Amino acid sequence: MGFYERQVLPRLIDWSLGTPEILAHRQRVTAGLAGAVVEIGFGSGLNVPFLPASVTRLYGIDPCEVGRGLAAKRIAQTDVAVEFAGLDGQRIELPDASADMALSTFTLCTIPDAHAALEEVKRVLRPGGVMHFLEHGRSPDAGVARWQDRLNPMHRRIGGGCNLNRTMDVLVRDAGFELIALENFSVSWPRPYGYMYMGRARRA
Ligand SMILES: C[S@@+](CC[C@H](N)C(=O)[O-])C[C@H]1O[C@@H](n2cnc3c(N)ncnc32)[C@H](O)[C@@H]1O
Repeated sequence: MGFYERQVLPRLIDWSLGTPEILAHRQRVTAGLAGAVVEIGFGSGLNVPFLPASVTRLYGIDPCEVGRGLAAKRIAQTDVAVEFAGLDGQRIELPDASADMALSTFTLCTIPDAHAALEEVKRVLRPGGVMHFLEHGRSPDAGVARWQDRLNPMHRRIGGGCNLNRTMDVLVRDAGFELIALENFSVSWPRPYGYMYMGRARRA
């Protein structure tokens, strides 16, 4: 991994995903979380300030060391116990059924094998446990989707492996989750980047 991926990109992500518009959606996606929560793609802890008091512990999983550094102030300011629980969402270092709930924001686009990560989230969730997610992904507009496919190779290179064209609800369902809520909307980013999937999915 070069200087750009290691040092520059985590700061760019922290800035671009920390705008007031996106923070408002973080507030919505974290509402209702409770108990022990596992977060894949913890990043720079941008969700930490929004964790409800009902969350007793957050297990953060992310390979990015700089992100953990950027998160330090947010962690210091929350009452929630934040614990780093490994580097790879595709192989979570937690026992089966050890989390009450899970969280993923802007991460299923980037994890190389998102299906494997979702299988792992399912494994560490207790039966009936619910994952909240907020992800950008494939647009239902055929013209936009064509642009997403065209831009994807370049975007993956500059975006640390981030894909523009994954269909998030299909990914979640294919991993065996029961989708119990889904809201699609667009944010103010250019159209190939800004189609959102916010939802909740239950481990059967
Ligand atoms: C676009 S950033 C989003 C960060 C954070 N979830 C947020 O909402 O601000 C994608 C994150 O996925 C992380 N990531 C990449 N591969 C991963 C993996 N295999 N397991 C867990 N996280 C991963 C990256 O390090 C990065 O922090």
